[in-house]
This record gives sequence, C-alpha cells and structure tokens, in this order.
Amino acid sequence: MPITNPKRYTVTAALIYANGPIHIGHLAGCYIPADTYVRYLRSKGEDVAFISGTDEHGVPITIRAKKEGMTPQQVVDKYYDQINKSFADLGISFDVYSRTSKPIHHQTSQEIFKDLYDKGVFVEEVTEQYYDETAQQFLADRYIVGTCPVCANPNAYGDQCERCGSSLSPLELKEPRSMLSGAKPVMKSTKNWFLPLDKMQAEVQAYVNSHPEWKSNVAGQVQSWLKEGLKPRAMTRDLDWGIQVPLPDTEGKVLYVWFEAPIGYISATKDWLIQKNGTDEGWEQWWKQDDSKLVHFIGKDNIVFHCIIFPATLMAEGSFILPDNVPANEFMNLEGDKISTSRNWAVWLHEYLEEFPGKQDVLRYVLTANAPETKDSEFTWKDFQTRNNSELVGIYGNFVNRAVVLTHKFCEGKVPALGELTEQDQAVLAELAAFPARIGEAMENYRFREALALIMDLARLGNKYLADTQPWHVIKTDPARVGTILNIALQITASLAIVSEPIMPFTSEKLRKQLGIEGDQLKKWADAGKRTVLAEGHPIAEATLLFEKLEDSVIEKQVQKLHDDKRMNELAAAAEGKEVPEVKAEIQYDDFAKIDIRVATILEAENVPKSKKLLKLKVDIGSEQRTVLSGISEHFKPEEIVGKKVLYLANLAPRKMMGMESQGMILMAEDKDGSLAFVQPGKDVWNGATVS
Ligand code: MF3
Ligand code: ZN
Repeated sequence: MPITNPKRYTVTAALIYANGPIHIGHLAGCYIPADTYVRYLRSKGEDVAFISGTDEHGVPITIRAKKEGMTPQQVVDKYYDQINKSFADLGISFDVYSRTSKPIHHQTSQEIFKDLYDKGVFVEEVTEQYYDETAQQFLADRYIVGTCPVCANPNAYGDQCERCGSSLSPLELKEPRSMLSGAKPVMKSTKNWFLPLDKMQAEVQAYVNSHPEWKSNVAGQVQSWLKEGLKPRAMTRDLDWGIQVPLPDTEGKVLYVWFEAPIGYISATKDWLIQKNGTDEGWEQWWKQDDSKLVHFIGKDNIVFHCIIFPATLMAEGSFILPDNVPANEFMNLEGDKISTSRNWAVWLHEYLEEFPGKQDVLRYVLTANAPETKDSEFTWKDFQTRNNSELVGIYGNFVNRAVVLTHKFCEGKVPALGELTEQDQAVLAELAAFPARIGEAMENYRFREALALIMDLARLGNKYLADTQPWHVIKTDPARVGTILNIALQITASLAIVSEPIMPFTSEKLRKQLGIEGDQLKKWADAGKRTVLAEGHPIAEATLLFEKLEDSVIEKQVQKLHDDKRMNELAAAAEGKEVPEVKAEIQYDDFAKIDIRVATILEAENVPKSKKLLKLKVDIGSEQRTVLSGISEHFKPEEIVGKKVLYLANLAPRKMMGMESQGMILMAEDKDGSLAFVQPGKDVWNGATVS
C-alpha cells in the first residue's frame, strides 16, 4: 500500500550516464516531472531530499571513451560538468548532484555488497560468458549487441533492448556480435556472484502487488517480467572500469553497474549531508524510516531495475525502506522520429539554453504540456512555437499583463479595496479557491499535464473575468467597482504565481517580483486560492513582459539545424567506417595501353528529364564533340560544370541510357564522404591531349 501522510520525502531522479549531454527526452521523461513534484512538495512545506547525480561506471562510459579517444575518467569529468551546469541553468533544484565515482559511493556500495555476501545472499557460480578473443575481453552488457528475442530489434544490447524496453541477458540475444571488434564472440568461463531473483519471486511479487496505485505503464512492464519468471542475475562483471568487488582474489572484477548505481541514491544522500553538515549523520532517516516516502523518477528504460532488481537488493539487505512509487514516463519522440544520441537526432539542453536565453520556462512548459505520461508523445518545433505564442503569450502573459497594467492605470499601482461583491465576483472567487487543491491533487498523483492544464484554466478564468467585467469601460462611471474587479484580478495573478512555480519557477519569480510577494513577503501553496494573498494598498511594481512571441524564422532555423546535425553525423559516420579499398589485381602495360584517356572540355550540361542522377554533357575532345551521360546530378548543377577541363575515357564502348546513347566517360574521384571531384590536368592542356 502507498504510504499515507509521510513525514518526509526521499525523491530521486535517475543517475544518468555521464557519457553525453542531456536532451529533451531525458527532461520530459524524468527530470522536469521530478523537479515539479519536489517544488510542489516544498511549497507545501514538506521535508524533501531531492537526490540525483551521474552514473559514471558501466560499459556505456567505456564505449564513449573509446569513441572520443579519451580515458573513461576524462569522459565522466567532461560530461559531469556539462550535465550539472545545464540542469542548474534549467532550474532543476536538486539538493545534491553527486557522482558515483566519489569515494563515499565506492564505500557504500562495497559495504552493501559485502553485507549481502556475508548474509549468504549471493549464489557464486562459474558460467560461460561471451568473450572477444581479438580484444581479449569479456563482453558484458553493452559490449555485446544482437537481435532482441522479444521485438527482433537487430541492435539490442546485452543488458537491454532500447526499442521495447525489455531487460535482457547477453545469452538471450540472437546473432550476438562484439561491440569492440564486431567479431562473433566465443564462450569462456568465469566466476561471478548472482542475486537469486528466482528465489525471491514471491517476495517481489507481493511487494509489487501491494502497490496497485503504480502507473499502468509501469505496472504493465513489471507484471510481464514477473510473469516471465525472474532469473538469477550476476551482480559482478569481468571489466576493468567500475567498483572493485570487495572480496579476495577478484582482480579484474567489478560490481555490476545496475547493482551499484541505484545505491548511488543512498551515497548521494550521504554526500549531501557531508557537504551541508560535515558529516553524514542522519542519512538513515531518508532511507530506513517507515515514515519516509521514497519516490524514483526515471524513464521507461529503467523501470525493471527500479521496480524489481533494486527493491530485491534492498529486501535482501533488510534494513531499508522500499520505493513507494516509480512514476516512470514513456518516451518523447522528436519531429516524427525517435530521439537518438547516436544518430544525433535530438534537441540538446545545453544548446537550447544558449540559443533561447531566459526561456527556460518555455521549454519546461512545452515538455510538461506534452509529457509522455501514459504513452509516447512528440515534440515538434511548430508545437513549441504555437504553445508559446497562443498559450503562454496569448493566455497567461496576456492576463497577467492586463491586470498589472490596469492597476497602474486606474489605481496608482496599489492593490485597490475589495468592495461589494456581485454574484459573478462570488462565483469567480469560489472557483479560484478550488483551484489549488485540484492542481495539488494532480501533482501529488504525478499527473503534471493535468496540473498544467488546470493552471492554464486559472489564467483563462482571469481573462474571461476581465473581458466580462470590462473595467476599462466601467472606470468612466464607477471607479470603486473597478477597484473591486482589479483586486480580484490581482488575487488571481498572485495565485497563478504560486501554483505555477513548480512548473515555471522563473516566470513565477518574475511575477512575484511584479506583485511584490518575494523575500519576506514570500507566499506558499497554502496561500494560493485565497482572496487575501495581496492586501489592500499593497504596492505592485511596473509590468514587465513574462513571455514574448516566437517568429517563424526562429523555429525554421531550429528545424533546419536538426536536419543539418543529423546529416553531418551521417557523413562523419560514413567516413569513419570507410576504408581505402585494396589495390586491384595486377595488369600488364599492354592492358593499360588499350585505354585511351584524353583531355576534354565540357561545353554543355543539362538535366535529363525524369532521371534523378543523370546529366547530359557535350564535351569537346579536340577532334570532335561527344555526348556523355554522367551520373553526377546529385553532386553538381549543370551551370557550375560548363567550361571545366576534365579527363575523358574516349574508347569505352557506347551505352544506351534513358533512350539516349552515351559515348565514353568522364573520370571522377570519390571523396570519403561520398562527394565527387573532377580529375583535371595540372595546366590548361589542349583538348585531345592523350594521358599515358
Ligand atoms: N545510468 C542509467 C541511465 O542513464 C540510469 C541509472 S539510474 C540509477 O539509463 F540510479 F539507478 F542508477
Ligand atoms: Zn526488443
């Protein structure tokens, strides 16, 4: 059963691998909902620890290091700094952003491993594991790829299929191959320590069943796993990057990254207390007291680890509380395609922050409005623009601006007195009063899209109220009535500032500044909805615009950039994989002497109708003019090649193409990226000169 009335909240956000920058998929899946939840709880006055950091071990790190030509340590240092900064700049309000490379974490995870070992929890077993003979290395987890047994994805990893989310073991992959050399791996025996999940099935099942409130996408994945039957899982690996197994004679063996990484939440809690108080004293209250509520925010590819393997580890240890909820989201797609780091199809947070300075909340808003809470969702730049222009500018910004500007215009910039209330005033105030509880209920149950929709409804209520009551007309006849109207409008803006803070903290701060409810005047969730958030006579500051319109050109530039980045990536990948072809079999001089290559000039060039590739060329070869069909129209425009001196194969047998005869052939060199270059003589040699 979910814990009721917890005394404190231990809220974690996935420890992302420090092997690349953050993109919008990470934000929508995990970090923005986590931050929203925590900010809401803090506004309610709850005791919260918001814990996260980077996962710095495991094969994903070493693979990245190999790719970037760096050491694993250099990779994690580089990305830790970048990730940490971009989260901070987006306003993700972690209490601590730690790293699994810290000594406190090595120590904590080794202690827990050793404790389980001493309790006799692990099954020690010599098994056959995949081994790459070329690289002389065992192939754990992501070092091995193959076809997913569940969904037939040909590029599933040894630990997991990223397409269907299934957690796998290397032996389940079909047609396995090594990520290191591409070779087919062989089997080699090695000793490892297994967590006997098979024997813990009943206990895990009972735990999962005790949480009927879990989101259906989460429960679905977990139940299907349980139905399959849990299998023992190795908690150690034969790798050289990771945390040393704390047992004698275990050279070259490290803790399985998915054993130690979630323990990183515990280590990070200690790290936080040490940084704050100089000692980790008191860390247990966050992890061992039944009145603490533990919530893990993650993306869907991490469900199984947080709902089965980590809880099983904690159960085996015995003194920890278990995750109370794991509100994982599904995936967010981008412009019709899956987000992919390797294909460079992503909107990167650090780039967004540079290109849209001061617009953190627009991203937070759009990613929340469109969050993949129950199923995959999609980010498009067009939608980003529309939501900014018609919702943030058109509804929220517009209402707030009118309320503040009119107060300056008609009421000397001070909150006017609330006079006699009409029926409509009463109704609006009653609606206002009901909003915070409705929004809070949605937030508490991880329905942040709904919470945001309600916040926008509150702004709409304000807009409609002003439109209905028309203070700009009433001012001519009844200034006191205008005071009442604007008082109510201002109370709505003040409530908006409070209830939108968890999702749009920067906007909330600007708005609070305008309304003079910051610092010692700071208002919290409990104040929202009241008709007295702003006292009569309270001065407000000048209006500043909260949001601004985004032009088409800005959006088009982003879409173009996406496609350009992807194309660059493809070219780089193609070039990387390309090898200089081997020299062909030997020939005699007589073979070569048969070939007649001449210098020629391209006189005319035109596209061939209905052909994607061909250009029709007229060339001067000194003695005569020839017609050549050349498959180069994807590389050159006709007008840019007219007049070029080229080398021409003159005695190639004529060929028919598209109903025309092509005589001879222009010589070309192909570059690494697939682009073409003409082969030209080093000086302006006369047409017809022979090449030998
Ligand atoms: N490193 C994993 C990833 O990026 C997430 C680990 S979450 C953990 O997918 F804290 F449990 F480790
Ligand atoms: Zn799959």
